[in-house]
Amino acid sequence: MFYRPDDGPALAEDPLTAIVAPRPIAWISTRSADGHDNLAPYSFFTAVAYAPPQVLFATTGGKSDRLRGKDTLSNIEQTGVFCINVVEEEGLPHMNASAAEFPATTDEFAAAKVTKAACSEIACSRVALAPAALECRLSQVIDLEGEGNIAVIGRVVGVHLRDDCLVDGRFDVTRFGLVARLGYRDYTVIREAFELRRPGE
Ligand SMILES: Cc1cc2nc3c(=O)[nH]c(=O)nc-3n(C[C@H](O)[C@H](O)[C@H](O)COP(=O)(O)O)c2cc1C
Repeated sequence: MFYRPDDGPALAEDPLTAIVAPRPIAWISTRSADGHDNLAPYSFFTAVAYAPPQVLFATTGGKSDRLRGKDTLSNIEQTGVFCINVVEEEGLPHMNASAAEFPATTDEFAAAKVTKAACSEIACSRVALAPAALECRLSQVIDLEGEGNIAVIGRVVGVHLRDDCLVDGRFDVTRFGLVARLGYRDYTVIREAFELRRPGE
């Protein structure tokens, strides 16, 4: 089949995120200017540069008590920092719990029963037991086409790696079962990897 998204829905459920899959989940921790810790998953997420290292996520839609974006974006615009925590299989229920819409003043670490630790380079909490966490300083906020579609680029200024996730000097996602998002309500857990070298490598 072929369809043009501009012509309206072609299938009962939009297949876009099933096509662009799997996507790792940025479990983003932020802090409001008045000190409330926030935690929420965002799967419109990827790395976009090595030097300096930069990551991008996008917020879509809104929140009933906000004029623009969600609490994560609002906090980042207030403080200029955020932390991206990696989700492992064991963290799934907590990640999912943190996706609920909470009032901006709720400590979402407490609400999702997640232990927090202080970031090293930025004034923000991180997920203490995450396999990895990227401390980021805000680089750019980009308004995208469509209402409530906003991309955020951050520069990574600190990297936490859990020691047991390092195998022979490499961060091994099969070790802990990296969680990634597919389309619809589907997820996958990375349990195996294979190596493929580029021509000439
Ligand atoms: C696995 C997963 C991935 C999600 N990805 C996104 C995303 O990429 N962009 C987005 O705006 N919301 C996404 N959401 C929904 C947000 O997590 C949800 O709206 C949350 O309440 C936002 O919290 P906040 O207001 O504290 O930022 C996702 C939810 C789940 C469970």
